[in-house]
Amino acid sequence: MTITDFDPMLTDEEEALLPSDEDVAFYAEHGWYLSKKLLTDDEVDALAAATDRYYAGERHRRLPVRPPKLAYWEPAKGAVQRHNDYVHHEHDGIGAILSKRLIGAVAARLAQADEIRIFQSTLILKPPVEGEPSNIVPWHFDKHYWAASSSDRMLTAFIPFHDCDEELGTITMVDGSHRWTEVGSDDTVVRHFADRDRDQLDDMLARNAAHNDADIRKIPMVIPKGHMSFHHCRIYHGSGANVGGRPRQAISLHLQDGDNSWRPFPLSDGTLASYNHDVLVRRTEDGRPDYADPEFCPVIWRHRAQQGG
Ligand SMILES: [Fe+2]
Repeated sequence: MTITDFDPMLTDEEEALLPSDEDVAFYAEHGWYLSKKLLTDDEVDALAAATDRYYAGERHRRLPVRPPKLAYWEPAKGAVQRHNDYVHHEHDGIGAILSKRLIGAVAARLAQADEIRIFQSTLILKPPVEGEPSNIVPWHFDKHYWAASSSDRMLTAFIPFHDCDEELGTITMVDGSHRWTEVGSDDTVVRHFADRDRDQLDDMLARNAAHNDADIRKIPMVIPKGHMSFHHCRIYHGSGANVGGRPRQAISLHLQDGDNSWRPFPLSDGTLASYNHDVLVRRTEDGRPDYADPEFCPVIWRHRAQQGG
């Protein structure tokens, strides 16, 4: 989908929902921010209804090729944690709500960017199955997956479709860890991060905390319906079991600032780091994957240059 209307004006009501200067400073220090109510109940309900139709098979377009590391739950996979990438692209009802300018405006303030584009959107359903191993998301930070992206200001909005708390296995941040210096993570670790067991990842988190002389402060995001948490691409986060007796449904909306672009990031085996986009998006004039391709990475916020003077 392509956004063509860049009128940046927000209503007074929307302006009041932007992060304050104190909130922006808090995000810079802590690496996360719990937003005000950015989506109305009607919008959240429309998002939930659109995802029901998505799960029932409705698509408005399909990816032209299947990228190598695509997350794409299908009913045959059963009651595991569901992850589906590119939902903003494949489903217009989902894409329309994820493109709400206010979300982009909040992200722009937090990242201190003039432009915000969607990078990826992942639809998630964590089934209410106690002991389901795939429900546990081990400690990691997202930038590990985005080594081919030049920006360190990328961020993610975690958007539940309902009140979301610890019982449901909400996302949990390691406070301030986006400012840590990283140790012990060669690219072998990066590439296989998702496959390592939880003990190893706990050890890595502990090692990195010790190296930075920091305490590990885990902050579960308690998110009322319509609100969302934002987190920095270098903050450690994870999530636990769903013992709430009902599914935990959400979208992880990954966002990039306007300056982000593909960069060569050599791995130790001689290959370059890649991202799923690289087989989908158009090329820049110098032949790189274009992370500003409006087909896959639409702009949702652009700050209008100051007029007059
Ligand atoms: Fe993550």
